[in-house]
Amino acid sequence: QTTPVADPTPVAETTPAAPERTATRKSVLMCRPEHFTVVYQINPWMDPAKPTDTALAVSQWQALHDTYVGLGFDVHLIDPVEGLPDMVYAANGGTVIDGIAYGARFTHEQRQPEGPAYMDWFRANGYDVREPVEVNEGEGDFLLVGDVILAGTGFRSDAASHSELARIMGREVVTLTLVNPSFYHLDTAIAVLDARPGQEHLAYLPSAFDEASLDVLRERFPDAILVSEEDAAVLGLNSFSDGRNVVIAARAAGFERQLREAGYHPIGLDLSELLLGGGGVKCCTLELRR
Ligand code: ARG
Repeated sequence: QTTPVADPTPVAETTPAAPERTATRKSVLMCRPEHFTVVYQINPWMDPAKPTDTALAVSQWQALHDTYVGLGFDVHLIDPVEGLPDMVYAANGGTVIDGIAYGARFTHEQRQPEGPAYMDWFRANGYDVREPVEVNEGEGDFLLVGDVILAGTGFRSDAASHSELARIMGREVVTLTLVNPSFYHLDTAIAVLDARPGQEHLAYLPSAFDEASLDVLRERFPDAILVSEEDAAVLGLNSFSDGRNVVIAARAAGFERQLREAGYHPIGLDLSELLLGGGGVKCCTLELRR
């Protein structure tokens, strides 16, 4: 006769529950892609030989716009200018913090007229506009996280613009160097999931940065979500979060799962037409901070 072996005591569930995420109401500026097309190549995603469909770009953009409205965001629009096909990527139009709008000065001449067009809008809407001396592509390379601004360089914004920005905003600016031409703007390699001071949370693609920048990211954001090459390759990181809802590329399935596990509410959209210009959700979104 054998004595039945008692079931081993079940191991306590060690995975902590994902924190409760709270949304902050965002105010954003967008530009309807009425003149969207790809007629020049300034990043590896763009191929002027590939046909583009402006009507499709507009309807995909409209879905993003309507998603923001549905989330309760305060959405502002700037008039698109004929002959400026990249103007839809509003994130590059400037950097707006504390009511101060630091204007953009574009690297490539094809986009240079966008700088003054956006500064005119900021002026007309009551922002304190600061004309840039240094080359910088706005929020494409500048991300506010807590009280600090993460600033990208390597492909577009000049490192000299980082000190200009620090002086104008009176904030600490941390330089990060991008090394992969497919992730040429900081907002293609880092997603800010929670920007509130004390709650800072990000996701990023480690291979997009040089070693020194990776050390900075690891040290400052030890709990960041590390995203796969596959998800980054559909510009999954080029997303916009209100602290709870994260609007992302629907094709970034792995990132979507990671976000859910971390307690966020991901919303997947198809912006494939705008990807032909090398941009996604975040590129089409400029945050306005009064
Ligand atoms: N065609 C544009 C460019 O190369 C895309 C900009 C994307 N914007 C962004 N914030 N990543 O300049």
